[in-house]
Parts: sequence; structure tokens; C-alpha cells
Amino acid sequence: MTTDTTTKDATPDATAPGQVVLDARGVTMRFGGLTAVRNVDLTVNSGEIVGLIGPNGAGKTTFFNCLTGLYVPTEGEVRYKGNVLPPKSFKVTAAGIARTFQNIRLFSNMTVLENVLVGRHTRTKEGFWSAVLRGPGFHRAEAASRERAMELLEFVGLAAKAEHLARNLPYGEQRKLEIARALASEPGLLLLDEPTAGMNPQETRTTEELVFAIRDKGIAVLVIEHDMRFIFNLCDRVAVLVQGEKLVEGDSATVQGDERVIAAYLGEPFEDAPGDAEVAEVEAAEAQAEAQTDAAPGKENDR
Ligand SMILES: Nc1ncnc2c1ncn2[C@@H]1O[C@H](COP(=O)(O)OP(=O)(O)OP(=O)(O)O)[C@@H](O)[C@H]1O
Ligand SMILES: [Mg+2]
Repeated sequence: MTTDTTTKDATPDATAPGQVVLDARGVTMRFGGLTAVRNVDLTVNSGEIVGLIGPNGAGKTTFFNCLTGLYVPTEGEVRYKGNVLPPKSFKVTAAGIARTFQNIRLFSNMTVLENVLVGRHTRTKEGFWSAVLRGPGFHRAEAASRERAMELLEFVGLAAKAEHLARNLPYGEQRKLEIARALASEPGLLLLDEPTAGMNPQETRTTEELVFAIRDKGIAVLVIEHDMRFIFNLCDRVAVLVQGEKLVEGDSATVQGDERVIAAYLGEPFEDAPGDAEVAEVEAAEAQAEAQTDAAPGKENDR
């Protein structure tokens, strides 16, 4: 038996494995005549890393926006730990869902540390007047916030750059700073929209490790990525969105082996899978090429 000595205000069994953290049902988002997301169901359980993949324009970011109160879905319902989410992004953050953005959104003229401190505002109780008057309560809260922000920078590997301006960080580090800022709101679920976009393979690998470490801290993760190696290494479950609809969902092997997913990525209609005639044609061509290669050495004597 372990005793939890933290003072986190989470419900007692909120981090128990298998507990439903996110429950999105029948989420539909229409923009005028365009249905960007159509009737999507998705759950994320505690302890899970779930992937969301799909071709460009499939509706992945729009779905994230529906989960985080940036958009109010045309239809459907989103619950976080059993409660329907309020349709305001700051309230969703306060409820326990944090996110990063596909297009990095940092305060570029603030320092790295200040950016993380901004992410903490939903968790600090000190109000506006306290900040203006700067009484002892404010100073105590500020010191605690700084300490936590430094811990998070350490966690993502940016502590040494705490005083640098965010805009001077290389791109890969800006993405990590966004993750630190999201973690500053002490979420129970983290949504990452293309966290490795623009990263080199080494940075991608450290991001992979970082996401595992986040999961190990008891934070469930839902991640959008186009890097399939990253997704299939990382995720317990992967859902595939195509033209706004969830096409397939399952473990990595199930999704990788699904012909409809391959077809969706190749952009080919898969109703007419390669027929026997085409297969035979390819085999004949290969056999002919092989025969020519075998015959090739003899050509030397033809001279
Ligand atoms: N605010 C909006 N108004 C109108 N159409 C929108 C809006 N946001 C997204 N769309 C449209 O919804 C569709 C889905 O876009 P979305 O950005 O969600 O795709 P995505 O899967 O995230 O793509 P990518 O992999 O390129 O990031 C696209 O056709 C897009 O043009
Ligand atoms: Mg997107």
C-alpha cells in the first residue's frame, strides 16, 4: 500500500490505471458547408498515450480545438473525468486539460522562465489586487511558482536557458518550452499537436522519452503527429482520422496492418485493390528483368 502525500486536488482514483480521463462522444464540427470533424468518439484512459493520426486536413487540430473549448462542437459532448467540459479554453485548462499548439504560441519577448510562469496562472490563487499590491501572500505564491517552473524546465531539459528570451531558442527547444508551459497548469491530460514537427531525429528521440516520462508522472497523453515511427513507438492506442471521420482505432500493429489506413495515406481509392491481372503483370516484369540480369555476364564475350 502506498500513501499519497501530495496535496493535489485530484479525485481519489483519478490516476488509477484504466480510469476514463477523456470521453469525447459524437463530436462534430462544421464550418459552413464543410464538416471538418464528423461524429468522432474517442476515449483516453489514465496511464495511456493515445495517438491521433491522419492526412493533412483530416480534422485532427479541429478535433483538439473542440476538446479544449477553443471551438464549441456543432454536435457531441466532451467529458473530462466524468464532467462535461465548459466551452471556454481557460476553464478547460483549469479543469485539467493542457495543450500545445501546431504553430508554436510562446511569448517570444519573455524569458523561458516567464513563459512557464504564465502557464501557472490557472493554478495560483493570488488574484489581480494581490499582484498589484504585492503583499506577502503574493511574494510567497510567486516564489513557489518560480520553484515549480524551474522544476519543469529541469524536467524538459531547459533549466540552463531559463533567462534566455524564448525567441532566441532553437525551434526544437521552443517546442519543449511549450510542453513545460502546458505542464505548468498541472494537467491530468496533455494534448500535443505535432510536438516533433521541425525537429531533427535526435530531438525527436528525446521528445519521445519526455512523453514517456510525462505519462509516468500520471498524466495521460493524446498526441497528433505525422512522424509514424514516433507514433507507433510511443502509443498504446492509435486512432486514424480521415476526412473528419474516425476510420480505424487500435494498437500499433492493428493500425499499421489496416489496408484502409495505407490507402488513406497514399490517397488512392482502395475499393479496387490490385487485381490478379496486375499482380501477374508485375511478377512477369520482375521475372523478365531477372532473366536479363542472369544473361548479362555472357555479354562480355560478345565483344
Ligand atoms: N476555423 C476554420 N474555419 C473554416 N475551416 C476550417 C477552420 N479550421 C479548420 N478548417 C478546415 O477543416 C479541415 C480540417 O483542418 P485541420 O486543421 O483540423 O486538419 P489537420 O488534420 O489538423 O491537418 P494538418 O495535418 O495539416 O495539421 C480543413 O479542411 C480546414 O481547412
Ligand atoms: Mg493540424
